[in-house]
Amino acid sequence: MEKSLNSNMAQSPLDWQRILDAVSDGMIITDRDFKILFCNRAFSVLSGIESANLIGKKCHDVFSSELCFSADCPLTQFPAAGQQLVFDHEPHCKNGKHAPWIVTITAFPDANGSIGGYVEKFTDASAFRRVRQALNRSHDRLRKNMGAIIQAMSTTIEKRDPYTAGHQRRVTKLCRAIATQMGFTWERIQGLRMAAAIHDLGKINIPSAILNKPGPISEHELAIIQMHPRTAYEILKDIQFPWPIAETIYQHHERLDGSGYPRQLKGDQILLEARILAIADVVESIASFRPYRPELGLKAALAEIESNKGVLYDSSVVDICTSLINRSGFDFETKVWRQYQRP
Ligand SMILES: [Fe+2]
Repeated sequence: MEKSLNSNMAQSPLDWQRILDAVSDGMIITDRDFKILFCNRAFSVLSGIESANLIGKKCHDVFSSELCFSADCPLTQFPAAGQQLVFDHEPHCKNGKHAPWIVTITAFPDANGSIGGYVEKFTDASAFRRVRQALNRSHDRLRKNMGAIIQAMSTTIEKRDPYTAGHQRRVTKLCRAIATQMGFTWERIQGLRMAAAIHDLGKINIPSAILNKPGPISEHELAIIQMHPRTAYEILKDIQFPWPIAETIYQHHERLDGSGYPRQLKGDQILLEARILAIADVVESIASFRPYRPELGLKAALAEIESNKGVLYDSSVVDICTSLINRSGFDFETKVWRQYQRP
């Protein structure tokens, strides 16, 4: 009984129409010249066009979009039968209706194995789009909150350590300028900015008497100071940032030749983000006032990175940093520096 029902269904065009009308996605079948041979009820509902006004027409008689008659039209890009394309599409129907669709097109073979025509499936993507917009809004909120938390951490450190107040902000500015010149994506720059903004977070664990000591420091005090990258890493390591923020901060006192701390990493073991942060940190520190010495200025800072280029500091980062300061007019205090705003 089951077998005979299936055979009858396969032989009756009317039954195929009924079956495909029960499919919730819109469907059309075209010949190899894109002439519409069949459409189901869902497609008529999606497009707002009766099937009688679709059969025998070509897709560009029914829709208009920037893809029509262009080399980008997906239908012109099928190399062989049996292949499938899926793409987002929001065409205007000739009746004025338009909606976001996800279109799946499958080429089917003729008797010789060449492309005989196409089965096109149209899924209403309005709901997907609403979900995507809600996700984007939620993502934006999360990003803003993450930025606010980073800012709060940064302020906390600087409240405790007034001599380096502004240091992290200025280091962040130079990191951003260097990374932009190096062709980092906007997204990657955000990660570096956040790392730079709290790179001295671990100093929260250093007693103020050591942090703000005006004179020379002992070996023991130096050992305590040198713990701050690891302390920051311990604080941050379990936060699921989309960037290697904890690791970048952990490495910001490492040097190319392995003479840095705390792990004596060398060369490529050090993240590029950390190599940039290291140079921005050194330049800002030398250029600015410290409790144990007056400010030395940008000239002295550049002399330090130039003389240790390729030994302690990444050569390409040094070159870009030097060029930014000497030729592009970078300075730490100018508030708006248009060429480095978000594209
Ligand atoms: Fe540091």
